[in-house]
Amino acid sequence: MIIKYEQLRMQCKKGVFFMNETSKYTIAVAGTGYVGLSVATLLSQNNKVYAVDIVPEKVELINKRKSPIQDEYIERYLAEKELDLTATLDAESAYSKADFVVIAAPTNYDSKRNYFDTSAVETVIDLAKDSQNDTNATPFF
Ligand SMILES: NC(=O)c1ccc[n+]([C@@H]2O[C@H](COP(=O)([O-])OP(=O)(O)OC[C@H]3O[C@@H](n4cnc5c(N)ncnc54)[C@H](O)[C@@H]3O)[C@@H](O)[C@H]2O)c1
Repeated sequence: MIIKYEQLRMQCKKGVFFMNETSKYTIAVAGTGYVGLSVATLLSQNNKVYAVDIVPEKVELINKRKSPIQDEYIERYLAEKELDLTATLDAESAYSKADFVVIAAPTNYDSKRNYFDTSAVETVIDLAKDSQNDTNATPFF
């Protein structure tokens, strides 16, 4: 299932992602910027989370429990909390295992062409759909 950030916030509010220790969801988060890494650290307290990025240095730092971005809470959560969090470059593997894929990839504005570049998000959607074993999964965009 592919889910939008706003929907994720609603689901978190409703407690949907906070199951007990024996029945965790597996969640892939695409993009470890401010949005993705916040979501990944929060959700990995109660779920198995794969944080996917295309930058090897970011993946390496996160797996050493160091934040690639400056953020007090992310830094503290990575250092102090018990998180079921694995950063990876292997997007296909992460998406194939995931019950949910949260997309936090860039949508940069191109002022010259006056449009938002959504190519990274589209790449993730295509890869996630191709990798999902469950053909009945409902994608949310
Ligand atoms: N930052 C905000 O306050 C905010 C608020 C609302 C919505 N958003 C949206 O959320 C998204 C993420 O924002 P951000 O600020 O975290 O961005 P960011 O640029 O800080 O991080 C994006 C991350 O995605 C990675 N990435 C690029 N292509 C990828 C791919 N194909 N697969 C996996 N990872 C990939 C980049 O390496 C980077 O680490 C954007 O679309 C943004 O518009 C951001």
